[in-house]
Amino acid sequence: MALDEEPGTPEAWWRTAVMYQVYPRSFADGNGDGEGDLPGLRAKLPYLADLGVDGLWISPWFPSPMADGGYDVSDFRGIHPMFGTLDDADAVLREARDLGLRVIIDLVPNHTSDQHPWFLEALAAAPGSAERARYFFRDGRGDSGEEPPNNWISAFGGPAWSRITEPDGSPGQWYLHLFAPEQPDLDWSNEAVLDDFDDVLRFWFDRGVDGLRIDAAPAMSKKAGLPDADYGGVLQFRTVDWDDNPHWDVDTVHDIFRRWRAIADTYDGDRAFVAEAVVSTPERLAAYLRPDEMHTAFNFPYLKGPWEAGPLRDVIDATLSSFAPIGVPSTWVLTSHDETRPVTRYGRTTTSSYFISDGAGEVSDLALGTRRARAAAMLMLALPGGAYVYQGEELGLPNVDDLPDEVLQDPMFLRSGGEMRGRDGCRVPLPWSGQEPPFGFSPEGVTPWLPQPESWRDLTVEAQEGDATSMLTLYRDVLRLRRETPGLYAAGLAWRESAPDVLDFDRDDALRCVVNLSTEPVDVPADRVLLSSIPLEDGQLPPDATAWLRP
Ligand code: NOJ
Repeated sequence: MALDEEPGTPEAWWRTAVMYQVYPRSFADGNGDGEGDLPGLRAKLPYLADLGVDGLWISPWFPSPMADGGYDVSDFRGIHPMFGTLDDADAVLREARDLGLRVIIDLVPNHTSDQHPWFLEALAAAPGSAERARYFFRDGRGDSGEEPPNNWISAFGGPAWSRITEPDGSPGQWYLHLFAPEQPDLDWSNEAVLDDFDDVLRFWFDRGVDGLRIDAAPAMSKKAGLPDADYGGVLQFRTVDWDDNPHWDVDTVHDIFRRWRAIADTYDGDRAFVAEAVVSTPERLAAYLRPDEMHTAFNFPYLKGPWEAGPLRDVIDATLSSFAPIGVPSTWVLTSHDETRPVTRYGRTTTSSYFISDGAGEVSDLALGTRRARAAAMLMLALPGGAYVYQGEELGLPNVDDLPDEVLQDPMFLRSGGEMRGRDGCRVPLPWSGQEPPFGFSPEGVTPWLPQPESWRDLTVEAQEGDATSMLTLYRDVLRLRRETPGLYAAGLAWRESAPDVLDFDRDDALRCVVNLSTEPVDVPADRVLLSSIPLEDGQLPPDATAWLRP
């Protein structure tokens, strides 16, 4: 796709781009310290260009104490020394651009790190001060303020409030953190916060990023007065179930995105926002995508649904019908650094992932999961709009569910007393080459920050390259075909009549896609097949397989 399109055109890159998510700590280690970094990423940019994606989304690369994998930022205008320097970041942006790859970065505006200078200033300042007003500091309830100010809960378990000790040593106010205590929430009704982030946006747009992914977007506004929430008796962070929750998807949040859109629109080159917004309905999500707000949003209902024809068809229809009136494309996605990897998830009886505990602990049939993950990738990439691929998804990596407790770092594991295993299992460093860990992620003899399973020797990039049956070859083939299929990007979607457990649709006259989610083979016109996720058998598409056909 050309990089010089007019802003706002129907062909704007973000409408159809396939973006590759880089979790920098686990992508490639350039300096040999066991942690991924920007020199490592630079060296692998040609791999991403060859893969056939249109760009990359880089998970947070800012200075951070890493209490939540970098989503606890202590300086929004810098680069974590573990990853490199601002010069390295500039080089990534420049070299990606030279290879025709867009780059979006991850902005984490709902909260800062507790080591951010603002929070340190707030701790040192008095109750009621301007320093505290950038966050939510409140007196506690109870006779001596010993109870949290309200009943809000944290996404990682437990109360969303922690109590501080005042500078004079007395038990003090409480501060709000919808995530870990190391991630105090900013008060986005405070002009000083808004002004500073205007500048952060400009800082990165000026350096040439093509867009920003907005972390936890619905968390950014809170209902005035911070009233107790009605969680419906389930003390868990179930944002897909929440309507009228005082700390999630509160309508005033949209004012912030309107302000940001006005800034993005002053830049050339179709700069774009992608919302991370897990909300209760497609209509609520569509509100984030109004013409003066964000450009796209991850499709979480699609990501989280089961591997079943009915729910898949329903979520595709619901998405297309709620987005069509506002003229925005969907962004399809199967996984991320927060989710169980598809190969593992689809090999379980519970294939949905609405809540973090779904399917946890269930044994996975990885052969079945891999077969389904291949089919799911081809379905996702046949749908109208853009898509995201999480690093290692193109290698068919499974989740690593047997990491020893002592290496786990996710605050979810620590805060839930081990009840929730957390997300480290999908963040294990990538295997690039060789027969033994660290599989080319780091130089030989260096131990990566999370241990890789020995069994990954068959899943390295090197092992999969040139293997016609590998997941990597499938991703390369399907991404190439997607680019080479005339008219695909503009085409609509029309369902064909099919058996109940089969999805069969045309993208106008550009492409036909058949997905067999039944237990029986289905007939397809074999001479029209362009690509299938597994070979046809006697001219039929086997169960848990997808084919792309000439219509
Ligand atoms: C969503 C991010 O994807 C996740 O990794 C993080 O823990 C939370 N937001 C909090 O920033």
